[in-house]
Amino acid sequence: MNKVRKAVIPVAGLGTRFLPATKSIPKEMLPVVDRPVVQYAVDEAFEAGIEHIVFVTGRNKQAIEDYFDVAPELMETLRGGGKAEQHGTLERLLPGAGQTTFTRQQAPLGLGHAVWCARDVIGNEPFALILPDMVSYGARGCLAEAMDVYNVSGGNVIAVEECDLTETHKYGIVGRGAEIGTGFEVTGMVEKPAAGKAPSNFYINGRYVLQPEIFALLETQERGAGGEIQLTDAMVRLSASQKFYAKPFSGRMFDCGSKEGFIEANVAFALARRDLGDTVHDLVGNLLRDHETRSVAA
Ligand code: G1P
Repeated sequence: MNKVRKAVIPVAGLGTRFLPATKSIPKEMLPVVDRPVVQYAVDEAFEAGIEHIVFVTGRNKQAIEDYFDVAPELMETLRGGGKAEQHGTLERLLPGAGQTTFTRQQAPLGLGHAVWCARDVIGNEPFALILPDMVSYGARGCLAEAMDVYNVSGGNVIAVEECDLTETHKYGIVGRGAEIGTGFEVTGMVEKPAAGKAPSNFYINGRYVLQPEIFALLETQERGAGGEIQLTDAMVRLSASQKFYAKPFSGRMFDCGSKEGFIEANVAFALARRDLGDTVHDLVGNLLRDHETRSVAA
């Protein structure tokens, strides 16, 4: 079985849901506590054994490329100013020289098109795909769990979670087949099915291990849901000749592409932090009490 060495992280989206903040900052640079959303995706990739990250970017995303580069003046100032801890953190988080590649999507034609833009950099080997808006929260990252299944089953692996049946129109949904280890065989996939048309309530949560044959299918993929070139549609075609497995994530994802999910992620990650948890717990408790008192008064 071929080792999964590279991960694709698409970061070309406009982030219109976070305007005006995203007028001059890529949405992937918005912080959850004190780290940009995209840093969580990169940490998760390296935790899962990935060696090289391919970012699919677009215009006005230079901040991401700069963020993953060295910052000599800043490092010098931190060192000189006795800020060893911050200095160490920045050093630890930085991918090594040559471990990142940036390529551009050029036109917002959909997730399938964004993944296809990475084809030459990936070449003829299996690869991981991380949708960075979905921030993984759990004892281990979601990609590491998906990789456990891949290492047993091979083929293609999609991480999933359960959602309410009224929410299936927001996601790609997979059909549930025979159990295999900690996952199950995928019997079908549909992108954003209307209520009542979904094969199950298992939604694709933004982590994939895919075989390179997906690229030839993406090249000829017609537009699907929302008028976009959909990855799920190409996966359906690939499933005619290759196996797909699903891995239910034992943690949970926060959808940081939505305001609610982003706020929830900030609170959850802050509560889990040793240096902040107790303080944030009290702050949130006070806010809730104030909020309830005001609601009662109104
Ligand atoms: C994409 C995928 C969808 C998946 C979702 C997870 O949709 O196409 O299958 O469930 O990400 O966030 P998007 O959110 O880009 O519309």
